[in-house]
Amino acid sequence: MRTFRIAPSILSADFARLGQEVCDVIAAGADIIHFDVMDNHYVPNLTMGPMFCEAIRPHSSAPIDVHLMVKPVDALAAAFAKAGADIITFHPEGSEHIDRTLGLIKDAGCKAGLVFNPATPLSYLDHVMDKLDMILIMSVNPGFGGQSFIPHALEKIRQVRQRIDEYTAKRGGEIWLEVDGGVKVDNIAQVAAAGADTFVAGSAIYGQKDYKAVIDAMRAELARVQA
Ligand code: DX5
Ligand code: ZN
Repeated sequence: MRTFRIAPSILSADFARLGQEVCDVIAAGADIIHFDVMDNHYVPNLTMGPMFCEAIRPHSSAPIDVHLMVKPVDALAAAFAKAGADIITFHPEGSEHIDRTLGLIKDAGCKAGLVFNPATPLSYLDHVMDKLDMILIMSVNPGFGGQSFIPHALEKIRQVRQRIDEYTAKRGGEIWLEVDGGVKVDNIAQVAAAGADTFVAGSAIYGQKDYKAVIDAMRAELARVQA
C-alpha cells in the first residue's frame, strides 16, 4: 500500500503570518511543507530565499520540501541545506552538472530530487536513479500558484511510477513521486490513481478558510484510491 503525503505550498499562504500559517496547516493534518523558491531568472517570479527557510524551521518539525526554481542551483542548494531544508529538488535545466548537484545536496544531509516541467523529457532520469529520493512532476509551468492542472501530466506520472517501481524492485530503496500544480480535492484521486504519492497543493488549501476541511476532503478522496 502506498503512503500518501499532502504537502501544502506556502506560496499561497499569508506571507505576513508565515510562521503561523506553517503551524496551522500542519495542525490541520498536512505532512510536509512545500517551499517554492523562484529567482526571477529561471522563472518569471521572485519569492523566498534561505532566510525564510531558517525563519520557519523552528515553527514545525514537519519536513521542509524546498522546490528550487532557480538557475544556477548549487550555491542556493547548499544555503537551503544549511537553513534547515529536509528535501531539496531542482530542475535539470537549472544545473550544468546534474549528477554533481544531486551529490552536493545529499552530501549536505538532505534528500534530493529532480523536477520535470510539462515539456521536460524523462530521459534526464536515465543515469541518476541511484541518487534520487524524489521525482517531482510539474502539472503546470512553474512560476505561479493558482494555475490549472495540465491533463497530460497524468501520462507522465504513470511513466514515472513504472520507472520507480522497476528500479526499486531491483535495487530496493524508496523514491517519492510528487506532483505540483493545480492539485485540488476534485482531481487528487485521479493524480493518485496515476501513481503519485505526494501531493503539493497551494491555492486549494490556503485559498480556503478551513484548512482541515480541505485536507480531510483530500484524504477522503485518497482513501477511495487506496480501497
Ligand atoms: C508553481 C509552484 C507550485 C505552486 C502550486 O511554480 O511550484 O508549488 O505553488 O500552487 P497551486 O496548488 O495553487 O497550483
Ligand atoms: Zn512547487
